[in-house]
Amino acid sequence: MTTDQILLTGSSGLIGTSLVRTLRGKRISIISLRRRLSPGAAVSDAGFQLLWDPYAAAPMRRPQEIEGTTAAVHLSGANLADRRWSSSYKRELQESRVKSTRALATLLAGLQPKPAVLVCASAIGIYGERGEELLTETSGPGSGFLPEMCLAWERATQPASDAGIRVVHLRFGVVLSPEGGALAKMLPVFRAGLGGQLGSGRQWISWVALPDVMRVIEFALETASLAGPVNLVAPNPVTNLEFTGCLGRALHRPTLLRVPAFALRVALGEMAEATILRSERVLPTRLCSSGFEFQYPALEDGLRAILTQP
Ligand SMILES: NC(=O)c1ccc[n+]([C@@H]2O[C@H](COP(=O)([O-])OP(=O)(O)OC[C@H]3O[C@@H](n4cnc5c(N)ncnc54)[C@H](OP(=O)(O)O)[C@@H]3O)[C@@H](O)[C@H]2O)c1
Repeated sequence: MTTDQILLTGSSGLIGTSLVRTLRGKRISIISLRRRLSPGAAVSDAGFQLLWDPYAAAPMRRPQEIEGTTAAVHLSGANLADRRWSSSYKRELQESRVKSTRALATLLAGLQPKPAVLVCASAIGIYGERGEELLTETSGPGSGFLPEMCLAWERATQPASDAGIRVVHLRFGVVLSPEGGALAKMLPVFRAGLGGQLGSGRQWISWVALPDVMRVIEFALETASLAGPVNLVAPNPVTNLEFTGCLGRALHRPTLLRVPAFALRVALGEMAEATILRSERVLPTRLCSSGFEFQYPALEDGLRAILTQP
């Protein structure tokens, strides 16, 4: 990779931790912006750490400390599945993305020289509930809390684009890893033989294996022609029923149980409707037309690989 110094936010998260490991393996220098520093160490597993407050008028005390940054990857955001979606948590979900993105984009725009690229997390949640519709980057956004939040999140990079920085919005699908996220929550249930379809099972899941996420982030950093929204999903979305069967087979466990939609709504509230029960059949059209090749295009192979990796 040609990038010399990468500025990273969200380095303590599922994707960030894996990205730090990947970049360090390639001896790329990382500056990690953290809301809290790891005790006693400016240099840690996450690279060189600097404190920032994405909500403050001046997010960094000494912005000159990030001079020399050639690229930035922004992964911050309160976790969608951490808590029930009260109105205050929905505000936190929104502000942790929109305010932190605007803060970072403004910091980058003020650097001299400016970094070449900002790769910013977004989500396929921007499309909302779409049933069987095939969705590409040219499909319009949906309506409701998540689509509106994602739209505001993407628009918050404007200060960076205005400064001539190339901005890529990676619209992540469901990132599959045994180390965290949706799959890690499902594994104990499926391993106990208690896995099964959720709701009707007909809703589409657009997934991507974590190793491919790492390869796409590197591709986005390096591909100068790539800008704007990019769907980060494998080319073969599956229904919830297919997903359930694949995971059961990968784990050699039965998947006979069903969790009805009303039980999910009662247990999880609005989050159930906006995530687990939502149908989004998304294609990685821009990645494919830009020449990116997935290592794990098919779910069953992807699951077997990530579940057997050390
Ligand atoms: N994993 C998925 O399946 C998936 C799907 C769609 C979209 N995404 C998006 O991709 C990004 C990275 O995903 P991830 O799975 O790695 O997320 P994650 O594990 O939840 O980590 C997100 C990071 O954001 C920072 N953060 C947490 N709460 C925050 C708050 N209230 N204000 C500001 N920053 C906060 C934390 O980093 P520090 O403590 O170091 O600041 C945390 O490590 C997120 O924006 C997520 O919404 C992920």
